[in-house]
Amino acid sequence: MKKLTVNTPSNTYDILIERGILDNCDKFILPLLSGKRVLIVTDSNVCKLYLNRVKNALLKRGLLVATHIFTAGEQQKHIDTVEEIYNTLSENEFTRKDCIVALGGGVCGDISGFAAATYMRGIDFIQIPTTLLSQVDSSVGGKTGVDTKYGKNLVGAFYQPKLVLIDPDTLDTLTDHYFADGMGEVIKYGCIYSEELFEFLEKNDIKENIEEIILQCLKIKAEVVSKDEKESGLRMILNFGHTTGHAIEKLSAFSLSHGECVAKGMMLITLASEKLGLTEQGCVLKIARLCQKCGLDTDINFPLHDIADSAKNDKKGADKKLNIVLIDKIGSSFIHTIDKKDFARFLCS
Ligand SMILES: NC(=O)c1ccc[n+]([C@@H]2O[C@H](COP(=O)([O-])OP(=O)(O)OC[C@H]3O[C@@H](n4cnc5c(N)ncnc54)[C@H](O)[C@@H]3O)[C@@H](O)[C@H]2O)c1
Ligand SMILES: [Zn+2]
Repeated sequence: MKKLTVNTPSNTYDILIERGILDNCDKFILPLLSGKRVLIVTDSNVCKLYLNRVKNALLKRGLLVATHIFTAGEQQKHIDTVEEIYNTLSENEFTRKDCIVALGGGVCGDISGFAAATYMRGIDFIQIPTTLLSQVDSSVGGKTGVDTKYGKNLVGAFYQPKLVLIDPDTLDTLTDHYFADGMGEVIKYGCIYSEELFEFLEKNDIKENIEEIILQCLKIKAEVVSKDEKESGLRMILNFGHTTGHAIEKLSAFSLSHGECVAKGMMLITLASEKLGLTEQGCVLKIARLCQKCGLDTDINFPLHDIADSAKNDKKGADKKLNIVLIDKIGSSFIHTIDKKDFARFLCS
């Protein structure tokens, strides 16, 4: 088993990575519980694949296990789904001592975490991520929340889990599309923080080495989040490709998934920064080649002006300024602040 620890001012917690850990998740969950009740939240796809394994492991310890299943998909990441989780918690008499387990991808983790952060002003919360994207990224760091009609993740809370359990075997049932999608975030870590990881991805078979790749990504995420839990500085680098990526995601009316939009976003922003001499020449080509190897399409299907317009409204752009993350070379990133009004020119340079 591989173990990492995340240290934030609000909580210290472990990430455990092991094939087959779903079947003995009780061993790690039980010592952390203060009450007897656990609600497993999962979606309509994951429930058929993995719910019984987690549920049975917890039931055999005499816990009172309830389940809440929502329809899979980003479209469900809104406040109504969270309200339905509150109702299930109330109907099953959950108190502040009880716990939510999120079993699924990033959508499941984000809405379950937000429900946990807000039900009775906060109950315990454990993540069992089952997509590559959620295993390398969204399950760690405590960002929870929902989308509104004005944009992604506009309502939410920083709320750290008590534990993250990762079973890389769950990736065997993931579609090629969602595996590639998760690689968008994996490539991001290489770009912003580790040339070594980037080169490893270039040179090696991804699926054969996926456990090691997950570990390397989470080492970076744990380090960054431990230093800056609430994104006042360093953590912003994790948003590389996201300002433009979110804009593309929104323009596609969420028909494109998060990781593939991040890949397009990284390409777009690096194309501009390379032209402006802020990024070492050749990086765009390296990112494009690696995205291609991982099955990620980097074509930009929307006019740059529309992307710039949509990005200006992103919540991360405080006041009249926009903080964008750029790389100076592969493995090294920095924050570049520009006036929102200049963003279209920057992107179209
Ligand atoms: N909180 C954060 O820090 C953070 C970071 C990055 C992304 N996100 C969010 O994460 C979300 C995207 O996450 P996602 O890509 O995991 O999406 P997702 O949760 O919708 O999962 C993608 C699809 O895969 C299915 N699935 C999940 N696990 C499976 C498995 N093991 N086998 C087969 N199918 C499986 C799901 O049912 C779904 O259809 C976005 O909403 C994004 O904003 C959050
Ligand atoms: Zn992301």
